[in-house]
Amino acid sequence: MRKKTILITGAAGEVGQALVRKLHARNSHHLLTMDVRPLPPDLDGMSTHIVGDILDKSLFERLVSEFDFTHIFHLAALLSTRGELSPQAAHNVNVNGSLNMLQMAADQSEWKRERVVFIFPSSVAVYGMQSLENKAANPRPQEWEWNYPITMYGANKLYIETLGVYYSEHYKQLAEDEPTMLDFRCVRFPGLISAFTVPSGGTSDYGPEMIHAAAQGKPYASFVRPDTIIPFMAMPDAVKSLLLLAEAPAERLSRRVYNVTSFSITAQEMAERVQSHFPQAKITYRPHEKRQRIVDSWPVDMNDDAARRDWGWQPEYDADRTFDEYLVPNIRQRYA
Ligand code: SER
Repeated sequence: MRKKTILITGAAGEVGQALVRKLHARNSHHLLTMDVRPLPPDLDGMSTHIVGDILDKSLFERLVSEFDFTHIFHLAALLSTRGELSPQAAHNVNVNGSLNMLQMAADQSEWKRERVVFIFPSSVAVYGMQSLENKAANPRPQEWEWNYPITMYGANKLYIETLGVYYSEHYKQLAEDEPTMLDFRCVRFPGLISAFTVPSGGTSDYGPEMIHAAAQGKPYASFVRPDTIIPFMAMPDAVKSLLLLAEAPAERLSRRVYNVTSFSITAQEMAERVQSHFPQAKITYRPHEKRQRIVDSWPVDMNDDAARRDWGWQPEYDADRTFDEYLVPNIRQRYA
């Protein structure tokens, strides 16, 4: 019999590592992880890991013959700054790779006539606020408002949200076939901050970079202006939201795409918090015009009322707890 398995793509990334740890600690399912990179050694033994590319369809053919996926956390992606440096590569991974995953999940659910829960992290980058005045006037957009992304990454995420809904609700709608039992569910994240990993290739990275630099006694020049504001979330809350959504009873869900967020903060407020814990920190501002433009296009906050109402979403870490209880003690220990 094929093994009931949770598949995690992009497992060596920031969210992936945190999710693997959490799922391993629960010890409820066999975990199959995939990434183009090996997992870091401290995750050894927590999963069956495959170094492979989500663009490699023959790999999936092999995997579905061996494993029965009940849940797929499809995390692999190229982030927004990386995506602007190589838009075609980003499109390949973020769209073509995601399409492979959706198709594989749809085929599996159709074939075994069982639900496959497909969890997809989307992003604040699907928004495009068009001007700073507009950003100030519409600080907390709903899921369906201001969906005008200005990055390849944001456009890719928005498209896969749409495609996920299509595969779950309208796939092959004119054919005689039974509909699939793919159950696509998506959370849109704000900028994420982890105490244990540093991001690479994102545009919200000035937040985490600032604090990781301070803890190592390194000076940091922020690539955005001090007044720049976007929403952020601590990594444990990001993982919590993925798992809450994956476990929510289907009948409670009134939509397939949900905003989740925790606290909105300016770069300067972030720097002040870092400075209060690391008084030696040297934080300056050297805005990068183009990255600034990307962050300015993201909203101040996101309306996550639907997630709160439908599946009891609530962040555990506000700005105070994120810094005082999660980031600072863990980062201090990490660089001690
Ligand atoms: N953190 C991501 C980025 O900066 C946004 O989802 O690209």
